[in-house]
Amino acid sequence: MGDKLDDFVNKLQDQIFEETRTAYGELGFRRWREPKYQGAMDDADAHGRMTGTCGDTMQIFLKFEKGRVKEASFLTDGCGSSTVCGSLAAELALNKTPEELTDITGEHILSILGVFPEEDQHCAFLASSTVQEALDDYMKKQAVRK
Ligand code: FES
Repeated sequence: MGDKLDDFVNKLQDQIFEETRTAYGELGFRRWREPKYQGAMDDADAHGRMTGTCGDTMQIFLKFEKGRVKEASFLTDGCGSSTVCGSLAAELALNKTPEELTDITGEHILSILGVFPEEDQHCAFLASSTVQEALDDYMKKQAVRK
């Protein structure tokens, strides 16, 4: 009985993995299973927080050193798709100057993923907008320091 249940669960999991791999592509699938750069950052130099029209909230944390992003992380209370996009947005922010951060767009994230569910493409735009919000926070703090 136990073996049958294990078989059933394993088959179900394989099926879910296969469907997710098809929908997200290989890179998106890997980020979905093991999101990189996930977590809050207590000593961030900049923080962006945005809630999308779907009601989910994304946060981006950036730490700068010598004018470039040294550490980046994200948090989301949203779906698996927002986790994938937040993870990629944080990775794209690494080593960027403030000016280069403006190049991170939803289209950019989607082009790196290659394939992504049509109905979840807004998650990429939420992630990129949150990076821009964090950049805005950084620039405001820099202006205050001067
Ligand atoms: Fe809301 Fe993904 S961020 S559905």
